[in-house]
Amino acid sequence: MADSNNILSEEKGGILYLTINRESKLNALNFATLEEIRNIFNEVSDNKKIKAVIFTGSGEKSFIAGADISEISELNELNARKFAENGQEIFSMIENCHKPVIALVNGYALGGGCELAMACHMRIAVANAKFGQPEVNLGIIPGYGGTQRLTYLVGRGKANELMMTGDMIGADEAKSLGLVNHVLPTKKEAMAKAEEILKKINSKAPLAIGMVVDCVNAVFIPDENGYQTEANSFARCVKSGDYKEGTSAFLEKRKPVFKGE
Ligand code: COA
Repeated sequence: MADSNNILSEEKGGILYLTINRESKLNALNFATLEEIRNIFNEVSDNKKIKAVIFTGSGEKSFIAGADISEISELNELNARKFAENGQEIFSMIENCHKPVIALVNGYALGGGCELAMACHMRIAVANAKFGQPEVNLGIIPGYGGTQRLTYLVGRGKANELMMTGDMIGADEAKSLGLVNHVLPTKKEAMAKAEEILKKINSKAPLAIGMVVDCVNAVFIPDENGYQTEANSFARCVKSGDYKEGTSAFLEKRKPVFKGE
């Protein structure tokens, strides 16, 4: 795995555990950390040992408390656009990854932290999690895809309310809005839940999982015909050995053994 100063990475049992490790700054995302995420995700796709990713933040208090305000306070109009486009590109790499990526949200998921969690395929929150897009407090708006993903996830009215007020919401409210899949009392239990879900996903055909990612993402691309993407992806699955294995195993009344081919 690529060298990282701000992210702890450990592969265990096919899961890559990524921990944003700037606890004294509540794991705020600085430019260097973002680039480390880019480098890691470049490698995740090709690394056969890695079957899934879990993102979390160091410590109990914060997942990621946003972009690093000491850096964004220095932006000008030209580099602000690049700043946003760069973050959007890196978060799209997470969203488009063909291996499942779960955000395990411990504590604050604010600004870029909430945006990173929303770019993951699922969110599992610890009961102390707090979600928010407080950028208006700084005179800005979300820039890493948050205006789009939050609206898709919670709907227009609530997205407007959250982004216009900058209010934080707790884990239970986030779950009732569809922003979070599961809420668990402790980080340990949340991790166990994430691992349980990934274990199940990792027993399925990897190509089919990647096609689910593409088809779900197609819903959010206005120019893409999602039904066509689905039909093409379905056809791609049928070309795979795993399709033969899955259907044969059912008919032969045995468990399938998928090879990802
Ligand atoms: N960028 C840079 N540093 C940050 C940060 C951020 N987004 N969020 C927290 N920090 C730093 C603080 O400056 C502080 O550093 P210091 O000890 O060197 O002074 C440290 O993390 C602890 O934060 P602190 O504010 O003292 O903790 P708190 O418990 O009182 O408050 C928050 C926690 C999350 C409510 C508060 O830190 C906050 O509002 N952060 C900014 C959130 C935000 O606006 N994010 C969107 C950015 S676009």
